[in-house]
Amino acid sequence: MKQFPPSQLLNSLPKQFFASLVKKVGEYISQGYDVINLGQGNPDQPTPAHIVAKLQQAAENPINHKYSPFQGYSYLKQAVADFYLREYGVTIDPNKEVAILFGGKAGLVEIPQCLLNPGDTVLVPDPGYPDYWSGVALAKAEMVTMPLREQKNFLPDYNELDENVLAKAKLMFLNYPNNPTGAVATSEFFEETVKLANDNDICIVHDFAYGAVGFDEEKPLSFLQVPGAKDVGIEIYTLSKTYNMAGWRVGFAIGNESVISAIELLQDHLYVSLFGAVQEAAREALTGPQDCVKELNILYERRRNILIDGLRSLGWNVSAPKGSFFAWLKVPEGFSSAEFANILLEQAHIMVAPGIGFGEFGEGYVRVGLLSSEQRLAEAVERISRLEIFKENSPTGEPLREKTEE
Ligand SMILES: Cc1ncc(COP(=O)(O)O)c(C=O)c1O
Repeated sequence: MKQFPPSQLLNSLPKQFFASLVKKVGEYISQGYDVINLGQGNPDQPTPAHIVAKLQQAAENPINHKYSPFQGYSYLKQAVADFYLREYGVTIDPNKEVAILFGGKAGLVEIPQCLLNPGDTVLVPDPGYPDYWSGVALAKAEMVTMPLREQKNFLPDYNELDENVLAKAKLMFLNYPNNPTGAVATSEFFEETVKLANDNDICIVHDFAYGAVGFDEEKPLSFLQVPGAKDVGIEIYTLSKTYNMAGWRVGFAIGNESVISAIELLQDHLYVSLFGAVQEAAREALTGPQDCVKELNILYERRRNILIDGLRSLGWNVSAPKGSFFAWLKVPEGFSSAEFANILLEQAHIMVAPGIGFGEFGEGYVRVGLLSSEQRLAEAVERISRLEIFKENSPTGEPLREKTEE
């Protein structure tokens, strides 16, 4: 059989860092080990029943068997506008300020292709969600990373950005509540972002994938709540996390009219819009009963507390995430993030994501998902407590040292 080589463009895409880890986990599972998978970000709860029922009903309507309008049904755009007004007090023009997406990921990867020319500069957070890099590579643009440091609550420090970089930058990705760090943004930070964007003509893309998951009674802020945000950018929202609809592939871009129309233009060339029944179900999710969202938040917060309190009781001095469904844990002294993730997998049969997979500034951390039951998380803590390095439970809460150095 002939082998057709992939294009230079495909070869230029970033390599999937986590692929080898996922493969190793698969090997452990096939050998019969009971692996606790805390490494991935797939919501474990089902979609609320009223949304599924709407899909079932809508699937029977022949109108939905036809092509849907290229840019999506206007009732869904109206539902997005109603949702933003209800949840964030933000007014959106459903005709000009909403683009329907096949999930947030599609929008995030499309945006660089909509706005950038080869060689243009994009600012991305480090650590950050790796799909930003994919979109940048597809647009043949250049990436400049903005370190997220724990001392700065994992918010980028704009004073660190070189003037030349700022002059060249056309696009910036931000994401709060943040994957992987679990940090949340403040309104001051978003205000500073609007000013920076205005001063330097940078389009801001705020990825609000975890907008519905905020702990300690703090509702995460939408970027669009800050005055002037719509002038300088957009927000990407997804139903994947808020309503446990990751498999359904529904999301939206909301905000700056010129960016929205660029996304719609690209999408006109790539696809016809989502299955009409999915659009009806998405409207139901956004405008129907919202108790499910509150309950989900409570569930994640309980899981967070079990994990964080449990690990702290072992003397591991970890910080609690403020939002998202991830905990970002500083690895005990003496290990790289990949080494520590390997120890957890090999000795405790727990999979976590090594921080280095999210960028250089992710080194020294592992990301733990809160997507397993309370019992499984408690079991993970118990398995960790049996690791050699945690046996000497430090009563002071000081970071534990590598045992093999003795
Ligand atoms: C930070 C972040 N943004 C966007 C997404 C994309 O979600 P979806 O494509 O399911 O909307 C994810 C999914 O894991 C994510 O973690």
